[in-house]
Amino acid sequence: MLTPSQIQSWHHDGYLVLPGFKSAGQRADLSARAREIVDAFEPDAQTGVFSTVDPSRTADRALLASASEVHCFFEEEAFDAMGRLRQAKALSINKIGHAMHDRDPVFSRFSRGPDLAAVAAGVGLVEPLIWQSQVIFKQPGIGGEVRWHQDATYFVTTPVTVTTFWFALEDATVDNGCLWVEPGGHRGPLRERFVRSGDQLGLERLDPTPWPTQAGAVPVEVPAGSLVLLHGLLPHYSAPNRSPRSRLAYTLHVTDGRSEYAAGNWLQRDASLPVSGFAQRSV
Ligand code: FE2
Repeated sequence: MLTPSQIQSWHHDGYLVLPGFKSAGQRADLSARAREIVDAFEPDAQTGVFSTVDPSRTADRALLASASEVHCFFEEEAFDAMGRLRQAKALSINKIGHAMHDRDPVFSRFSRGPDLAAVAAGVGLVEPLIWQSQVIFKQPGIGGEVRWHQDATYFVTTPVTVTTFWFALEDATVDNGCLWVEPGGHRGPLRERFVRSGDQLGLERLDPTPWPTQAGAVPVEVPAGSLVLLHGLLPHYSAPNRSPRSRLAYTLHVTDGRSEYAAGNWLQRDASLPVSGFAQRSV
């Protein structure tokens, strides 16, 4: 349950930090399951990352296939010119996505429940629909930058309702690549849209408004266990992780079922795995 002052700051800033939302035990369970998934992952069989024919098409296909499945995605430059991993697989993964919450019991349990339903209601999601889950590793030393963007770019709805639930599985600091946000920036326009046309994916510029400058950005340093909520229009980025510590995070992207979900969004679900909300369910 959010307090009136939390709801007020959500509307004012476009983001909200809820410390202590997940226990150490819950985080440990999810992290352990994530590492099991990585251990079991066979890179060349599922990702085709070794293809040199058309790497962008290969990447698009891997992304599209992950809409209803569980895939591991590598850091850029994880492989050398011969297609060999430069370092251990467990240290080369960028993220896991995008249907763990609907495919894996451990992830489903972490991603649902009355506490999350209450938070969703507090930020105005009347019929929450969880479209996507991601484990983001931000590996020590090589974890890459994620440039300024708005999450509504990837989940276009009318009106904009997508809300990001970002769980810190480990402490997130400036040193290990925490989120940076532009407080109040959610009142600006949607600048880009990520659209699918057939099997092709690409970014379209919608609005010329520039991204914020560093002077307008504030770091969201949070202890492990915190839940950070981001409005879909809030500009945010994260810096590379040049520290010796990882910055493990877990995210859910949630829309309101009362808004119209664009047919051009890359992530679509059919009746074989319908999108659902925060009520606990067996998967
Ligand atoms: Fe984002």
